[in-house]
Amino acid sequence: MKIGIVVTDPADWTAERFIHGLRLVGVEPITIELGKAVSNVSEITCEGFSLFDLDGLLVRDVGGGGLESSVFRFDLLVELECSGIQVVNPSHAIQLAANKHLSYWKLKRSKLPLPLTCVTSEIKEAISFVENLGSAVAKPIFGYKGLDVELIDAKRLHRVSTIIRERGVIYLQEFIPHAGRDVRAFVVGNEVIGAIYRIAPENEWISNLSQGGTPQPCSLTGVQKDLAIRAARALGAAYAGVDLIGDENETFVLEVNGTPSGYGLFAACRVDVTRAIIDLLMNRVRG
Ligand SMILES: Nc1ncnc2c1ncn2[C@@H]1O[C@H](COP(=O)(O)OP(=O)(O)O)[C@@H](O)[C@H]1O
Ligand SMILES: [Mg+2]
Repeated sequence: MKIGIVVTDPADWTAERFIHGLRLVGVEPITIELGKAVSNVSEITCEGFSLFDLDGLLVRDVGGGGLESSVFRFDLLVELECSGIQVVNPSHAIQLAANKHLSYWKLKRSKLPLPLTCVTSEIKEAISFVENLGSAVAKPIFGYKGLDVELIDAKRLHRVSTIIRERGVIYLQEFIPHAGRDVRAFVVGNEVIGAIYRIAPENEWISNLSQGGTPQPCSLTGVQKDLAIRAARALGAAYAGVDLIGDENETFVLEVNGTPSGYGLFAACRVDVTRAIIDLLMNRVRG
């Protein structure tokens, strides 16, 4: 059985756990950096190894970079999928989840509760969205780890034109009041295998762990579990980290992560999501 794992940093906690977990089920994984892959249009190799020889591929991290190189790496995954290799998460789910605008529509079509959102290149339209709500959260369409997320209120309206000038487009969202925390639910297959609160630093409202948030155990309500499972399914993800936000009365789906880190759940609850993901992949590979 040949199982690969797509990584950019083999020392990352989740990548290490994938490698360790595969060894526990008797598989010596082949780590693959797609940045080193060669496609000669009849073969895809990485450091001399033919990726078509794989039975399954776990995608921890496709990596960033420019448009052409990331499209190239996703196209490699698509070709591997076309040749019958089980890729988890599927490339289309990772791509969809990475795109907050496109995934918003998918989630909306699945009737999930979402914050009001406006995406536009028109400065006037963007400003009137913020003015109607009083304030709004701006974030990059392809953002991650809470980077470049900011609150735009009446005093910071100038940021709208700056962002549109710099990025060409702005993604604006209703600010959902919350008690300084959000929820990250981990879905694997059709189940939620655990969840954490991410507590934002004092007087902050952005709760990503990489922005200083702290993970704490969280028991989801049945409604929240159902939202998380439906959100993962809406994007075709085999597993996902689903961000939920709100208060005791109402929960909104913020986003779905197709390559989530398992560290926070393990730190807070001692639940290792990579084990469940490996089981899912191995079941698919064994048919
Ligand atoms: N609409 C919102 N209302 C309130 N807080 C938000 C909103 N959008 C984002 N946040 C905060 O910012 C964090 C990052 O936003 P998110 O949409 O998950 O982007 P990223 O992909 O960068 O994680 C969230 O975990 C939450 O703490
Ligand atoms: Mg997030």
